[in-house]
Amino acid sequence: MAHLNEAATEQIKAICDRYKDEKTPLMMILSDIQREYGYIPLEVQEVVSDKTGISVAEIYGVVTFYSFFSLVPNGKYVIGCCLGTACYVKGAQQVIDKFSEILGIKAGETTSDGLFTIDALRCIGACALAPAVTINGKIYPRVTVKDVEKIVAEYKSKEAEA
Ligand code: FES
Repeated sequence: MAHLNEAATEQIKAICDRYKDEKTPLMMILSDIQREYGYIPLEVQEVVSDKTGISVAEIYGVVTFYSFFSLVPNGKYVIGCCLGTACYVKGAQQVIDKFSEILGIKAGETTSDGLFTIDALRCIGACALAPAVTINGKIYPRVTVKDVEKIVAEYKSKEAEA
């Protein structure tokens, strides 16, 4: 628990307490931690383990099995590329490949400057806009390989202005 301060430790314990009457609370606890902290590092898993009695090995197994849990912090901008069927048939693979090429990272990875994470998503319910990309919740409709460079540039210039 080396990197967790006392306040953070108390918050993790409070999240565990929300589900203390549940028979199988682990997914709910981890979902809340992911949503509120953005990631679930080992030291957080240790607090959850102490509090719930569930082994760190089991918690680690769950965190690494589900792609919506993350061991490392996401980038400032999370680029979600839908690879659902409707998007896939309209070229989503080429779109995500282009993001990878430009940013030098694969899906699930974050750029070393902490700015961008690429996420491969299943259908996000916007099939009419296929291929769809979301960046921190904003939807980019009918994205083509050509658009990818412009989209990345838009966020980089936003950063340069900040
Ligand atoms: S398949 Fe991409 S939004 Fe439905």
